[in-house]
Amino acid sequence: MPTSLLKGKKGIIFGALDERSIAWKTALRCHEEGAQLVLTNAPVALRMGEINKLSALCGNAPVIGADVTNMDDLKNLFEQAMTHFGGKVDFVLHSIGMSLNVRKGKHYTEMNYDWNAKTLDISAMSLHRVLRTAWDLDAISEWGSVVALSYIAAQRVFPDYNEMADAKALLESVTRSFGYHYGVKRKVRVNTISQSPTPTTAGSGVKGFDGFLHYAESMSPLGNAGSGDCANYCVTLFSDMTRYVTMQNLFHDGGFSFTGVTQQVIDKMGNG
Ligand SMILES: NC(=O)c1ccc[n+]([C@@H]2O[C@H](COP(=O)([O-])OP(=O)(O)OC[C@H]3O[C@@H](n4cnc5c(N)ncnc54)[C@H](O)[C@@H]3O)[C@@H](O)[C@H]2O)c1
Repeated sequence: MPTSLLKGKKGIIFGALDERSIAWKTALRCHEEGAQLVLTNAPVALRMGEINKLSALCGNAPVIGADVTNMDDLKNLFEQAMTHFGGKVDFVLHSIGMSLNVRKGKHYTEMNYDWNAKTLDISAMSLHRVLRTAWDLDAISEWGSVVALSYIAAQRVFPDYNEMADAKALLESVTRSFGYHYGVKRKVRVNTISQSPTPTTAGSGVKGFDGFLHYAESMSPLGNAGSGDCANYCVTLFSDMTRYVTMQNLFHDGGFSFTGVTQQVIDKMGNG
């Protein structure tokens, strides 16, 4: 139900790979709420061509390729976005994750450190790179909002989440640290949303994902939060209704994070 919450706002959306992507759903909701968008993804992902469909659904939003680990690509992206918008950017969605060790089937205890360095760069330090680029170009308006996507494995052990747990812990730390500096300098706010397991390309790459999904469902009083609801939450964080929320990791998980056990799980466990 559109409410024009983002009317007049301009945003960059990273990470829409296909229609299951959290970024895809968020772009559609932001467009419905009146925002103007620039869409971006890694050049290799753009070759799939899916993002052009999203562009058409978002008022022919420009699609600008950028590998998030490449500072020249990021500078070009922000410069082109500001030219397109005729001014600064009001919000940024960082919806990016990739684990080389998971992809190549390496157990956490046997991790390849070169791959790990790449994973941390793509999945966590990339947020620093995005913020640093915007900072250097003074590209984000006062009271602008940056949101990145995280997962509760940053706080608790989920064995098959592997090195991505460390990446998410780092991502949340960058959120606090850069959020402090950007808040002081420009009143820009930076937060992470810690999302329920969601069936997307990145999500399904985690070993035993279906088990993950069902376990979380049975441990969440409201059930798992879907990607459409995550998109709604992003809209609120990009809007002026949440101007004093910054440096937070915000759980969007149907109550999973604060539930010790549910009756459903007790019933499944029986009497031991
Ligand atoms: N799906 C889940 O269960 C879940 C749960 C919590 C958090 N998240 C997080 O949500 C975010 C979005 O993931 P998703 O589930 O929508 O999956 P997705 O696979 O649709 O999105 C991941 C995106 O990262 C992009 N990407 C990878 N390497 C890149 C690079 N070098 N430069 C630029 N972009 C690059 C991919 O092209 C893709 O668009 C990720 O941070 C993920 O960890 C997902």
